[in-house]
Amino acid sequence: MPSRRALLYTPGDDRHKIEKALTFGVDCICMDMEDGVALNRKTEARTTIARALQELDFGISEKLARINAVGSGLEKDDIEAVLPYRPDGIVIPKIESLEQIQWASEIIEAAELAHGWPLNSIRILVGVETPKAILNLKEIASHPRLDALIFGAEDFAASVGAVRTPEAWEVFYARSAAVTAAAAYGLGAIDMVTIDFHDIEKVRREAEFGARLGCTGKQIIHPNQVQPAQEAFTPDDDAIAHARRLVEAFEEHQAKGSGAFALDGKMIDMPLVKAAQNVLARARAAGKI
Ligand code: COA
Ligand code: MG
Repeated sequence: MPSRRALLYTPGDDRHKIEKALTFGVDCICMDMEDGVALNRKTEARTTIARALQELDFGISEKLARINAVGSGLEKDDIEAVLPYRPDGIVIPKIESLEQIQWASEIIEAAELAHGWPLNSIRILVGVETPKAILNLKEIASHPRLDALIFGAEDFAASVGAVRTPEAWEVFYARSAAVTAAAAYGLGAIDMVTIDFHDIEKVRREAEFGARLGCTGKQIIHPNQVQPAQEAFTPDDDAIAHARRLVEAFEEHQAKGSGAFALDGKMIDMPLVKAAQNVLARARAAGKI
């Protein structure tokens, strides 16, 4: 699975922002046809994204397109407009059931067959951002074409009648449930957007909190947010050194026949070794080791 520490939305009808996004070194660019695009600009967004996929070199950035929700009446035209130009993945917002993912997966499979592309090569990422989505996480997360769950805090809060606060406790249960379901099925868990894009410290804080919760990346909306988000999901040198030391010490003690041992005054056993291995896996995914 590619590294998706930051998933940057760019309004699909704005060629300038799409071109600009290519210069940020961001892991993932998601060209939007949903809520970032006005209702009277949906057709413009479809053709702009189709052209961008054909004409632009995305370099290191993964290229995704977000369609409108299944049932909106826009989703079929959206997906058909962009699929022939081979995005790396399709993002589907406001998913509530497995059937909705299956609908998209069948259309994608037909395109893969028609173009002779490897089966399952175009991935699906889904937005879980309504109460029904959280109740149905278990079935939603089980779809084989799925790469990641994307938690949408604003939509979730609006749909349960919660009021957003700086601490984000009002969405904590749903956010954490999404992380748990993602981990259970080996998927990425992409955290909520920080909408105050001038507040760099806030995005950094929220990204670091998300990383500690087990999220693998974060949705972002502005160039200011690329660096703080990508850094929060990349272990720093001290964390990598500590993880290495812990794994080495564990292997030595295992060889000597002890499962638990002391390191720097702390008890170390299997769960801590797993956590250290997670740190090393993140560092590897970010190309740091
Ligand atoms: N992708 C690419 N480029 C972006 C960008 C984005 N998401 N957001 C801003 N930029 C560019 C701007 O075009 C501008 O470049 P320019 O000077 O060459 O025109 C530069 O970065 C600085 O932007 P700034 O002036 O600070 O912001 P703005 O007022 O132009 O845009 C938003 C603010 C919120 C409208 C914009 O960030 C945006 O469209 N974000 C994505 C919204 C979205 O897709 N929402 C749906 C998903 S939640
Ligand atoms: Mg939304």
